[in-house]
Amino acid sequence: MTMNNIPSAPGKFKMDKSPYIHRFRWQYSSLAKLTFWSFVFLGLIVVFFFKSPSTSPPNSMPSDLSRRSLKTSSWGGPAWEKRVRSSARIRSSNGLSVLVTGAAGFVGTHVSAALKRRGDGVLGLDNFNDYYDPSLKRARQALLERSGIYIVEGDINDVTLLKKLFEVAPFTHVMHLAAQAGVRYAMENPSSYVHSNIAGFVSLLEVCKNANPQPAIIWASSSSVYGLNTKVPFSEKDRTDQPASLYAATKKAGEEIAHTYNHIYGLSLTGLRFFTVYGPWGRPDMAYFFFTRDILKGKSIPIFEAANHGTVARDFTYIDDIVKGCLGALDTAEKSTGSGGKKKGSAQLRVFNLGNTSPVPVSELVSILERLLKVKAKRKVMKLPRNGDVQFTHANISFAQREFGYKPTTDLQTGLKKFTRWYVGYYGSGKKGDH
Ligand SMILES: NC(=O)c1ccc[n+]([C@@H]2O[C@H](COP(=O)([O-])OP(=O)(O)OC[C@H]3O[C@@H](n4cnc5c(N)ncnc54)[C@H](O)[C@@H]3O)[C@@H](O)[C@H]2O)c1
Repeated sequence: MTMNNIPSAPGKFKMDKSPYIHRFRWQYSSLAKLTFWSFVFLGLIVVFFFKSPSTSPPNSMPSDLSRRSLKTSSWGGPAWEKRVRSSARIRSSNGLSVLVTGAAGFVGTHVSAALKRRGDGVLGLDNFNDYYDPSLKRARQALLERSGIYIVEGDINDVTLLKKLFEVAPFTHVMHLAAQAGVRYAMENPSSYVHSNIAGFVSLLEVCKNANPQPAIIWASSSSVYGLNTKVPFSEKDRTDQPASLYAATKKAGEEIAHTYNHIYGLSLTGLRFFTVYGPWGRPDMAYFFFTRDILKGKSIPIFEAANHGTVARDFTYIDDIVKGCLGALDTAEKSTGSGGKKKGSAQLRVFNLGNTSPVPVSELVSILERLLKVKAKRKVMKLPRNGDVQFTHANISFAQREFGYKPTTDLQTGLKKFTRWYVGYYGSGKKGDH
């Protein structure tokens, strides 16, 4: 039966007598059923999309995580491209055009601002996830926007977006700082580490290797790759095969992945092993930050000690010294040698420690904070739990010193003074620092 045979007023049919009647009734009812179920199905899809959260709770499942993280706010179109191009445009002779991933993060914000100040083009990329208070990331974004830096909201796993960015702005360098940070959280949400630090890194490298020209890539590894090593100070030549956390393991994996992409595709790759970075606009999940908050609020703070009352110490490194190291690495990075996914010669592959070279016991950190905040801390001494933290870190920085004159200049007292001043200005000094 064709559509023409269907009467406009089916009720007028003499149902029983028509030779078509059974076929028509069957078809009509199945059409109605089909329409009904199509609506139900469409409805479900609509409900699914509208109900799905833009950010998921920390313990969400991997599938939910990837759906959430890949969700990007709208991008594309001439106005968007113009913004990307303008942000990435080099404004000084011999300047670089740098894609900074994790630009709304602590280190990313400082590095982006420093690059922009000296006339480099900077485009940020960040997924603004809620590992810690996203409003702090938004505040950093606003800060960067004021100096003309645009942060595209998106995930490093979104290959389509990454490709588009390289189409619009042919970056000379990538400063890759986006990652799932923190050692303890890895026990709560291991998949977020695999998602950002392994899968995300591979997606980024895939796009970089296909880019023409290929950019040079500088990326953040971590001092945590030294894991349970006891020989100090830690040197780049030391073993890194006994990580104490999944975070450390993903950073170590990143170093091996970097080797592979350098070897196969001629990508110039430099890994930076940061040692406990602190400073203004820092990360609320780090001890110096939440100690400050809790001391001001009169809450007790846990001070860990290792077995046999062993001291726990960190090579705390002030953010400005880390920024200097990042710029030094960027400026000495050689070009990638491949193009369009093909290697044309061997390329540079480096790993540097960036630390302060003077570890300070955590109890001393607390004493400095007490003096600066003029509040006595309620210390609660506890055994160092085996959930990712190591007893101490200490960087040997002679390689970075030799290659680009790296020399940290800020001691912990001076750096914490700048941090606490920022903290009190941002959150206030009273009990309202609840964030
Ligand atoms: N701060 C330190 O003490 C320290 C020490 C060693 C290594 N690192 C490394 O340095 C880098 C920067 O650290 P930070 O302290 O600024 O951390 P951060 O968490 O403040 O910054 C990371 C940023 O990356 C973003 N991000 C995470 N996953 C992403 C994804 N899949 N796609 C897009 N954006 C994503 C986050 O939203 C965040 O803004 C990280 O790679 C971290 O592992 C930091």
